[in-house]
Amino acid sequence: MTDTPHRYPEEQIAAVYRAIFERRDVRHFKPGPLPPCALDRLLDAAHAGPSVGYMQPWRFLHITDPALRQEMHALVEAERLNTAEHLPSRQQEFLKLKVEGLRECAEILVVALMDGCEAHIFGRRTLPEMDLASAACAIQNLWLAARAEGIGVGWVSFFDPQALARLLAMPAGARPIAILCLGQAESFPDQPLLEQLGWGHRLPREQWLFENRWPEDAAPTPVSY
Ligand SMILES: Cc1cc2nc3c(=O)[nH]c(=O)nc-3n(C[C@H](O)[C@H](O)[C@H](O)COP(=O)(O)O)c2cc1C
Repeated sequence: MTDTPHRYPEEQIAAVYRAIFERRDVRHFKPGPLPPCALDRLLDAAHAGPSVGYMQPWRFLHITDPALRQEMHALVEAERLNTAEHLPSRQQEFLKLKVEGLRECAEILVVALMDGCEAHIFGRRTLPEMDLASAACAIQNLWLAARAEGIGVGWVSFFDPQALARLLAMPAGARPIAILCLGQAESFPDQPLLEQLGWGHRLPREQWLFENRWPEDAAPTPVSY
């Protein structure tokens, strides 16, 4: 094996891959708080994420007010029902899916893109969505660190962003992109929940890795509803 001078020791490399492959979106939580200082460590991990032009566009809101949690749950529930209405088939099946753990989780973080992103054109002039990509990197850092700490994280995106922005008093131009539920996970299953329930499967490599040019016969991934 060719060694590189900056390579981590074997067991540390294995731990990184372990967190990547064993991370799950968690929606089933056991009661109880996070371990002491864990939330701080996870937030530091998020804030160590890469960002286009080093703009650090993420803003995290820690929701500690139970009344707000309730109102956020109502927003998510409304959007879950709206989504069900727009599903041409599998509506009943969808309604049985658990898509959030807002009422049971120990902590809630809302991740938003800051206001004034437009002014940052470094790396975004032709690709303005790189602010969103950067914030997603921060979330993934938090998600992986949480897995290593045995903490479950669920990303909830069933909400009307304008309604959530209003509820949380965000300034014009700021945009919520995620509600993160954190808590003690009931389990970290081997397979994603949606795979277990037959909503999708991990695509084989030939469907997402191409050489040089996009193959003429590459078909878009079929939608299962
Ligand atoms: C941008 C984004 C938004 C998501 N929104 C939701 C959501 O609203 N509700 C939900 O149950 N899961 C949500 N998920 C989790 C996905 O369903 C999950 O990542 C996928 O099924 C694969 O499972 P895994 O994360 O356990 O590997 C979201 C994931 C991402 C990356």
